[in-house]
Amino acid sequence: MLHSTRILLIIGGGIAAYKALDLIRRLQDRGARVRCILTAAAQKFITPLAAAALCGERAYVDLFDTESELDVGHIRLARETDLVIVAPATADLMAKMRGGQADDLATAVMLATDRPILIAPAMNPRMWAAHATQRNLAQLVADGVRVVGPNSGEMAERGEAGVGRMAEPGEIAAAAEEVLRGHGSLSGTRVLVTSGPTHEPIDPVRFIANRSSGKQGHAIAAAAAAAGAAVVLVSGPVDVADPPGVSVVKVETASQMLEAVKRALPADAAIFAAAVADWRVEHASANKIKKQQGRAQRLELVENPDILATIAGRKNGRPRLVIGFAAETENVIANAKAKLVKKGCDWILANDVSSQTGIMGGDNNAIHLVTASGVESWPPQSKDAVARTLIGRLAAALAKAKP
Ligand SMILES: Cc1cc2nc3c(=O)[nH]c(=O)nc-3n(C[C@H](O)[C@H](O)[C@H](O)COP(=O)(O)O)c2cc1C
Repeated sequence: MLHSTRILLIIGGGIAAYKALDLIRRLQDRGARVRCILTAAAQKFITPLAAAALCGERAYVDLFDTESELDVGHIRLARETDLVIVAPATADLMAKMRGGQADDLATAVMLATDRPILIAPAMNPRMWAAHATQRNLAQLVADGVRVVGPNSGEMAERGEAGVGRMAEPGEIAAAAEEVLRGHGSLSGTRVLVTSGPTHEPIDPVRFIANRSSGKQGHAIAAAAAAAGAAVVLVSGPVDVADPPGVSVVKVETASQMLEAVKRALPADAAIFAAAVADWRVEHASANKIKKQQGRAQRLELVENPDILATIAGRKNGRPRLVIGFAAETENVIANAKAKLVKKGCDWILANDVSSQTGIMGGDNNAIHLVTASGVESWPPQSKDAVARTLIGRLAAALAKAKP
């Protein structure tokens, strides 16, 4: 709940501005008092009157408006709030925030505030993927700005789809609660995440791999960075973009992943989401193996190092929280419980990766969190939402177990 919290909502000039009106209501429903600033471009999409009617006080639009400068003023707007939300955060506003510009009321207030800022980006998928936007995002995350969304889906423009849809008002309100609770705050902590599959060579052109996409591990790294942690992501070969504000180490094999993980320690928490190959070919051929007519090819496999068990079993320099994933196709919870004990880790996130679930490679996940104190089954949700939930839990656990 947001009882008696003051929220300053900055509405940028994007199609999603109309959803900001619904967001005002959602925040008020949770008990917040909401003030609004509309950029000049936002006023092309919605009117200050509509925002004011919902807020129950005037909406602010102009840095050089004598009346509002004498009345509240941009410095008071920046101070008399507990949280600033920017929704929709346009590509333009993100660029200005990154550069510290202050040439209108919205940007001047954001520069003048010492309160947390939560942005809900919304734009065309190509604008979102543009190097400039991703550079700006990475810097904003490094500066401590919190981010919710964007989601993937249909855009307002006909025929356009992809990542760039503003998070729904309910999701933004929930993220605001999280920021204000201080949950999810991982400032000052180091988090190590592994992600993706490993590729174990057979010869120079062939390898053994699995269907892991890296979506879940990368989402976890992004959520940890958004919560203020210094994050090292050790990733196998994936097609997913590097998450913003994260230091990424790219590896191919399980042995390389273990070495990279050891180099990345110490860490306060380690989350092993990578689907590490259990076996590798004992003697990978230096040259391409030729087909020999009528003769079957046999591969001798040997076990790979167990990265989760190795790090969880460390006497010195063990992260305070070691979290593993169990990708199972049957007896999911029983196998996860056994894995928790066998590997000596603190939590296991178990999921059913049988092909009919669509989890491996898909965008959604259904998690059972297995700990020494029991099993908690989370409702099916997006991999981003799983990541945010996990990071919230992680922050709470680390705060409890401060050394
Ligand atoms: C119809 C229309 C829709 C737009 N939608 C978006 C959008 O969703 N996201 C975005 O970043 N910019 C969008 N723009 C561009 C911004 O309005 C433009 O960059 C503007 O300068 C942003 O100003 P502001 O950041 O001060 O609000 C749109 C422009 C038009 C004409």
